[in-house]
Amino acid sequence: MKNRVYFFDTTLRDGEQSPGATMNLQEKLRLAHQLEVLGVDIMEAGFPASSPGDFEAVRRIAEQANNIQVAGLARCTPADIDRCWEAIRGAKNPRLHVFVSTSPLHMRHKLRKSPDEVLAMAVTGVRRCAALTDNVEFSCEDFSRSEGDFVCRVVEAAIKAGATTINLPDTVGYAVPEEFAARIAYVITNTPNSDKAVFSVHCHNDLGLAVANTLAAFRVGVRQAEVTLGGIGERAGNAALEEVVMSLRVRHDHFGLEHNIVTEQLYPSCRLLSMTIGQPIPHNKAIVGVNAFAHESGIHQDGMLKHRETYEIMTPESVGRTESSLVIGKHSGRNAVRNKFESLGYKLDEEQLNLLFEAVKKLADRKKTLHDDDLMALVQEEIYRMPDRIRLRHVSIQSSDTGGVPPTAAVIMDVDGVERSGAGFGVGPVDALFNVIADIVGREPELEQYAINAITGGTDAQGEVSVRLREGNVYALGRGAHPDIFVASARAYVNALNHLFAKEEEGPRLHCQLN
Ligand code: KIV
Ligand code: ZN
Repeated sequence: MKNRVYFFDTTLRDGEQSPGATMNLQEKLRLAHQLEVLGVDIMEAGFPASSPGDFEAVRRIAEQANNIQVAGLARCTPADIDRCWEAIRGAKNPRLHVFVSTSPLHMRHKLRKSPDEVLAMAVTGVRRCAALTDNVEFSCEDFSRSEGDFVCRVVEAAIKAGATTINLPDTVGYAVPEEFAARIAYVITNTPNSDKAVFSVHCHNDLGLAVANTLAAFRVGVRQAEVTLGGIGERAGNAALEEVVMSLRVRHDHFGLEHNIVTEQLYPSCRLLSMTIGQPIPHNKAIVGVNAFAHESGIHQDGMLKHRETYEIMTPESVGRTESSLVIGKHSGRNAVRNKFESLGYKLDEEQLNLLFEAVKKLADRKKTLHDDDLMALVQEEIYRMPDRIRLRHVSIQSSDTGGVPPTAAVIMDVDGVERSGAGFGVGPVDALFNVIADIVGREPELEQYAINAITGGTDAQGEVSVRLREGNVYALGRGAHPDIFVASARAYVNALNHLFAKEEEGPRLHCQLN
């Protein structure tokens, strides 16, 4: 269909490359399922050759996927392509995605290859893919700094070799909308077989123009957008899926393009991502930030009361910002709890349901009504952390505003299955807590960032803490939620330490830019 835009989500690949956004296998599988619910056409599950962990995650995602296409990224080398195919071949609709740089800068300094050598790499790579599947995407890395006629030669050859999607990335976020659209139009017009492929863009946000560039590309015939939830990704990130989608919906009069995204799943998807990676959604974030539908000024409020459309171009409901009517509380039975989690997209086995049921009861003792976000936070706490090396058992904090006894923390935890405990002081209670935990595990990571946020309104809300730790060049994020903010803080710190250990065990990962 000429007017159909395909959404290619790369949250699990480019997104996961963003500093601190690593996810464990369970988390990736959950997010992959959500991408399917959201109506994404193609999800890029990872870069299988980059590490054994990535390979396994892509393989499991491919196995779990229903109709969504599952793409894996590979460089144009036989080893990368074969490894990638091995990981995705279990999917009902696998896609091989290969790339090579086409800009003079990258060819000369990164690849140290001549343009003809690069062209040959592209052809051999695509041919190898096409022998395995007829769903092959080819990307000209650093397209926006590449020379137009050379790109036309490479694209023509890639299509001849079997590529069915041609991706033209703005790898370094250098493009500006009119110029980017003109470059793409040049390639489409001057590549003789361009009608045999779907053209795609993949825009980075270094100048804050990723969404604008993506939208500009639609105007010249591009029909696939590579995006991520919340715009996460390398450096300043990628084009945000929710912004591109809602631009198409709200300005259908301008674009006249159709897509398959269920817009009511936008907020739940971004919220799930934010909980998973422990990065709160910025308040002023378009579409999904808390302020996106908040009207503060008196004039705006007055206008809204008279007629909603005076100051609102889309409704909160249209992006899924609604509380569901099935409320969970102290008296909810197992079935209600199971149904609720299923409606939130979680398939639970009996052991997981038992764990969650207990956790729901405990939380409901402290908090009258449990909102969807509370329940999602519980899954994160109770289910997705099971394979962690270190686990918190008990935390006790003493703080006061007098100068007498300094803030004190006592902690009991399991370290590799062995119970360990400790106590100590700090400048404040959080400092005391983190010092004690670091002592128990014998590590001294630097705390780079600490943020706290209330998951819902009300003084009985759960606190959601995210921390960022650094040890040498390795970063790790962690998050924790609990009605007691010190317990939430301890959980976040322990979660970050577990991510740090996981990174150590996995060893260095190859990122695609290291060609
Ligand atoms: O930014 C980029 O160019 C990429 C490619 C691998 C598509 O991520
Ligand atoms: Zn990228």
